[in-house]
Amino acid sequence: MQVSTKDFSSLKFGFVGGGNMARSLIGGLIANRIEPHAITVADPSAEARQYVADNFGVEVDEANEAVIAASSSVVLAVKPQVMQSVLESLRTSLQASSPLLISIAAGVRLNEIDTWSGGGLAIVRVMPNTPALIKKGVSAMYGNCRVSDQQMSQVDALLKAVGKTVWLPNEDLLDAVTAVSGSGPAYFFYLIESIEQAAVKLGLAADTAHTLATETAVGAALLAATSNESPQVLRQRVTSPGGVTEAAIKVLEDTAVGDKFVDAIIAGERKSAQLSQPKIAD
Ligand SMILES: NC(=O)c1ccc[n+]([C@@H]2O[C@H](COP(=O)([O-])OP(=O)(O)OC[C@H]3O[C@@H](n4cnc5c(N)ncnc54)[C@H](OP(=O)(O)O)[C@@H]3O)[C@@H](O)[C@H]2O)c1
Repeated sequence: MQVSTKDFSSLKFGFVGGGNMARSLIGGLIANRIEPHAITVADPSAEARQYVADNFGVEVDEANEAVIAASSSVVLAVKPQVMQSVLESLRTSLQASSPLLISIAAGVRLNEIDTWSGGGLAIVRVMPNTPALIKKGVSAMYGNCRVSDQQMSQVDALLKAVGKTVWLPNEDLLDAVTAVSGSGPAYFFYLIESIEQAAVKLGLAADTAHTLATETAVGAALLAATSNESPQVLRQRVTSPGGVTEAAIKVLEDTAVGDKFVDAIIAGERKSAQLSQPKIAD
């Protein structure tokens, strides 16, 4: 997927935190022909700095302040639990240069980021997912009222470098997104695990079971993503009356596995909402 670089040409990207998600995004930017020298990454770990410098050719610095000074857009790619201390320590630099802040931290609300950074900045919250590592992610986004249309299209292009994007009509829906697509890869891994287990139980070798289960998952997902038909119609097409698929699906339906999946995702949304309870009133 090639993203137009016109929105990026004059931009300097900064990353506070150079871990897994930051690396996916940096890889995506560079694959879309963003100059490595237009990207600065700060991380306290010398090993992490060395990794991103060696693999992407980006600028690195131990000090987060250096990223703020060098960047028009700053991706906050640290763990949620350190976000408050990171932003409070950067408040003076952030207020001096007013970059666009792009937070990928789960459960940290716009209002908290705004308060900890000193107020008045344009901020976008993003929920990406791990298939971003192979540029097959999906990210949902919501920004505060200070984000301009141009900044929205810049954030959109940044995340499109690692997959698809959707914009949300309100911030609370990020809890649903966390449970649906943030945690979502785990549900599919769970299903792949079960299919592999069944295949081995039925006499297939473990590596054959793995190939059959994963390739079937990839093929089914691509078919569902590219077909004009709904997943339900695609499923019915594989299910001949009195046949093998019907016998298998009957067991899933008799035990309400579909309903259990719905319950599981609702439980995930509730947990996300609980974890992202505002510590500062909205
Ligand atoms: N991975 C996912 O599936 C996923 C999905 C959606 C959202 N996210 C969000 O993405 C964010 C990053 O996750 P990740 O998986 O990339 O985590 P990660 O690999 O642990 O990366 C975080 C990086 O930030 C560094 N760091 C710690 N304190 C710092 C500080 N004060 N200043 C600058 N950097 C600091 C860490 O260094 P040390 O290791 O030395 O502490 C680490 O290299 C999280 O907020 C998470 O909620 C992740």
